[in-house]
Amino acid sequence: MIHRPRRLRRNNALRSLVRETRLTPDNFVLPFFVCPGNAVRREISSMPDVFNLSVDEVTKEASAAYDSGVRSIILFGLPESKDELASGAYAEDGIVQRATRAIRRSVPELIIIADTCLCEYTSHGHCGVVRGGEVLNDESLELLARTAASQAAAGADIVAPSAMMDGQVGAIRDALDESGFENTAIMAYAVKYASGFYGPFREAAQSAPEFGDRRAYQMDPPNAREAMREAELDYSEGADILMVKPATVYLDVLKMVRDRFDVPLAAYHVSGEYALIKAAAQKGWIDEDRVMMETLTSIKRAGADIILTYYAREAIRALAAAT
Ligand code: PBG
Repeated sequence: MIHRPRRLRRNNALRSLVRETRLTPDNFVLPFFVCPGNAVRREISSMPDVFNLSVDEVTKEASAAYDSGVRSIILFGLPESKDELASGAYAEDGIVQRATRAIRRSVPELIIIADTCLCEYTSHGHCGVVRGGEVLNDESLELLARTAASQAAAGADIVAPSAMMDGQVGAIRDALDESGFENTAIMAYAVKYASGFYGPFREAAQSAPEFGDRRAYQMDPPNAREAMREAELDYSEGADILMVKPATVYLDVLKMVRDRFDVPLAAYHVSGEYALIKAAAQKGWIDEDRVMMETLTSIKRAGADIILTYYAREAIRALAAAT
């Protein structure tokens, strides 16, 4: 007798019956880049279909996204002006704080996540306070904690620290609790690699570092065991959700975190991963929808509960078309 796995692949109904991994709209988080001004919609050249949007525009987009099935968004901000201490990150009327209030008013049900970092707001583009060419850890914690508290005050459901400063999750948890935001959750970018795949994001967020790079705080790509220590630290400091980033070139790490930690796990399909698919599709070299869905499925199969992706809307559309 020969074994015949092909029996269960004969048609769509059989394949669907035995399918092990399914994406659902609630898995996705759609990122937005909020910029100053009114009626601004500026496409990012390296990220087709992704825009810098002013507060009025992002509010409309968030509402349209909700109507098409998106349940969560993450906000990044381009401030009016940048300075050494990233004051735009924690200003009460900062760009993300204003967008959060406006979106909360117009789409109350939408989950709003605020990215908690300083790089978009510092004049030098690093994720913390710089002195003598170095990014200072403990001085940066205070600013990150203030940023998270002001995002919570504006109405963010979840704050997402991404600066890779040691102790940031604990500092943020303390600040949130002290300001009465004990119900604001933390999604920690626990395992964030110093990756070339963030290139297009730095165009979108205008956050490229003015000197040097982020290798002294983001993780070294060859390390996976170290990722377990990073995840353990953030977990013990009170992270509600852990994240691995980028996603597809770190699926092994994602699986390792999945196997060891029982908190919800997120993966960020980052700007460069998006741009690669877009560019090949524009050249007609691949079928965009197929490659998009295969990629997002691989991230879920490796263990992610939550996927942050610029493709959220398209993936939801493709899921609806397939049923
Ligand atoms: C902020 C931050 C970055 C990304 C998310 N949060 C950029 C960076 O670390 O340089 C990248 C997201 C993407 O590439 O889509 N520190």
